[in-house]
Amino acid sequence: MRKPFISANWKMNKTVDESVDFMKAFVPFVKDSLDVEIVIAPPFTSLFILNSLIKDTNIRLAAQNVFYEEKGAYTGEISPSMLINVGCSYVIIGHSERRQYFFETDEIVNKKIKLARRYELGVIMCIGESLSEREAGKTFDVLKRQVVEGLKDISSNGIVIAYEPIWAIGTGKTATTAQAQEAHEFIRKELQNIFGDKAQEVRILYGGSVTPENIDDLMACPDVDGALVGGASLKPDSFARIVNFKRR
Ligand code: 13P
Repeated sequence: MRKPFISANWKMNKTVDESVDFMKAFVPFVKDSLDVEIVIAPPFTSLFILNSLIKDTNIRLAAQNVFYEEKGAYTGEISPSMLINVGCSYVIIGHSERRQYFFETDEIVNKKIKLARRYELGVIMCIGESLSEREAGKTFDVLKRQVVEGLKDISSNGIVIAYEPIWAIGTGKTATTAQAQEAHEFIRKELQNIFGDKAQEVRILYGGSVTPENIDDLMACPDVDGALVGGASLKPDSFARIVNFKRR
């Protein structure tokens, strides 16, 4: 059985003060939600303070990015040991916004995952096709390439996959449950080729305009094991409703 995994991705939102306000309001909503792994990925600047607020709770922290070198002259970058030190359990790697605006390739994603895993950080690896790739019938080619190259020479331990079709991110245009299930099933088959039966243990999250209104249907898909939530994770009550999705 794969434990459901629901993660907020705040992207470039919330100051330290706003992050603290969120967490104080959010914790009571989810304190009894023990059958879900709950993760918050705030900006780097909020990690330290949030770590002190989530002690003794069932909430874990993720960073939104990490660099692939351990230390040194890399102005502006953050290393895995720094993330561990501020209490991160996970790191998001290869988000489509990183690929699109910061030119992260599958090779860079792979290097980042390797170093993060060496430090035993859990990894949420994001993959997903653009609208033009979907319309050209290339969805499965893109997903296969991202999975195979991103996970080269990596074992399944500590790996979570997030399928985020780019056309569904921030657009209000959620994938249908049929589209989500089809993609997740395909991804699991590719994971099976790489990891063998361990693929059955890997959580595959859906991301892209997840809301309190559509989470129950999405979670009813057999290969959807959780969600990576942007906009709807910024308000405590809205994200709590997603965490406390209704089982069908
Ligand atoms: P939205 O939920 O705002 O569409 O963002 C999805 C996402 O990119 C999460 O990583």
